[in-house]
Amino acid sequence: MVVRRLQPSDAAAYHQVRRHALSDVPQFVGPLAEQEALGGLAQLQSRMGTYEADGVFLFGCFLGEQCAGVAALSRKLNPKYSHKVFLWGLYILPEFRGRAIGRQLMEHLISFARSLPGVRFATLQVTTTNEPARVLHQRFGFVSCGIEPQALCLDGRFYDFELMQMKLTHDAQHEKECR
Ligand SMILES: CC(C)(COP(=O)(O)OP(=O)(O)OC[C@H]1O[C@@H](n2cnc3c(N)ncnc32)[C@H](O)[C@@H]1OP(=O)(O)O)[C@@H](O)C(=O)NCCC(=O)NCCS
Repeated sequence: MVVRRLQPSDAAAYHQVRRHALSDVPQFVGPLAEQEALGGLAQLQSRMGTYEADGVFLFGCFLGEQCAGVAALSRKLNPKYSHKVFLWGLYILPEFRGRAIGRQLMEHLISFARSLPGVRFATLQVTTTNEPARVLHQRFGFVSCGIEPQALCLDGRFYDFELMQMKLTHDAQHEKECR
């Protein structure tokens, strides 16, 4: 099992997983899901070519040639917000769940976030009915910052989102200083 950064040359594998995610759990995928999954492969490959310059980093977990799961991290280029990263797009193909792939992808995202100079927090949002993901995030130390009621409207049903945050540094002074 190998977790690595995805490049534009991985677009076909990424596209396949994102399309699966959108049809499997549309209530759990983020706002980019439609754009990434429903545009064509060439369009996705082109998007992926600009992601890194835009502060977006994609990761995939591979078993041999098979991409079993993906996850992403975004960092805003605006320095007012660059002390935090946003984690999104975590999805494991159903047949590979329960094999610690989600945990390994999260570990990679968090360790990558810690390697970025000046990053102090990781944030994410999770649909409140998504118990497996909430448990996974809590095990990493993410804590709830609040609920956005009726954040998503899908097929005649509302879903609430929970915003979660994790401190990436344990340096108390560093946490207080903003520079
Ligand atoms: C949530 C998801 C990413 C978990 O991936 P996974 O590879 O099956 O999870 P792992 O095997 O790495 O499990 C890691 C931990 O997550 C938690 N977890 C995973 N599946 C769980 C379940 N069905 N119920 C409760 N907790 C669960 C457990 O704490 C588990 O640790 P443990 O096995 O030591 O108890 C996967 O179910 C998935 O892709 N779901 C659909 C998409 C999604 O919800 N994405 C998250 C959006 S925020």
